[in-house]
Amino acid sequence: MTLDASSRKEKLYRLVVVSFGLLCILQAAANIGLRLSLYSSNARMPDFEAIIKNLTEEGEDLKRKLSLFDRYFQEGWVYLRPSFYYISSSEKSWQESRDDCLQRGADLMIINSKEEQEFARQFKRLTWIGCTDRETEGVWKWVDGTAVKTSFSYWHNGEPNSYQSKEEDCGEIKYYEDENSWNDEPCNKKNFWICEKVVAQ
Ligand code: BGC
Ligand code: CA
Repeated sequence: MTLDASSRKEKLYRLVVVSFGLLCILQAAANIGLRLSLYSSNARMPDFEAIIKNLTEEGEDLKRKLSLFDRYFQEGWVYLRPSFYYISSSEKSWQESRDDCLQRGADLMIINSKEEQEFARQFKRLTWIGCTDRETEGVWKWVDGTAVKTSFSYWHNGEPNSYQSKEEDCGEIKYYEDENSWNDEPCNKKNFWICEKVVAQ
């Protein structure tokens, strides 16, 4: 081999090595670039699967609520947020009225807002409400066990009075023309009644 030919061969060899090296560097750079771009786009990508799952669950929940509301309306309940109310069309004793409400998955109405008091009064009928002092005379309690607060009550003037020393242990709407319409009455008297079912707070 001549000197000229051997130096050309060496140059070619070097060119091949350098080219291969460059190719390796390029490949590595492309790899890193691709990984970086994938990572950053992943970070910004919304989690569609989670979003769809969430929306489906919310939809199911709404469907359940709608069919519940539909059922109550069909059965003649009236909605006054956050409760449904059932207004009886017959008369029963306080306990029988309460049992009717319990059977409907509700209880006798508890009045703890001015709106509820107005609602109960508007029917202009003798109506049982869910308060009693059967347990301890003079200690009025709602059917959920909470106290009837003196700071929030609508007893008519002079009531509750256990009239003529009779046992008047159950609460009713009596003086419906007056905002302060509550009266205590013997529990075995027959009255209309209102059931309440709380559905949303
Ligand atoms: C009722 C009592 C009430 C009284 C008031 C009676 O007819 O039974 O509960 O307190 O009237 O005058
Ligand atoms: Ca009374």
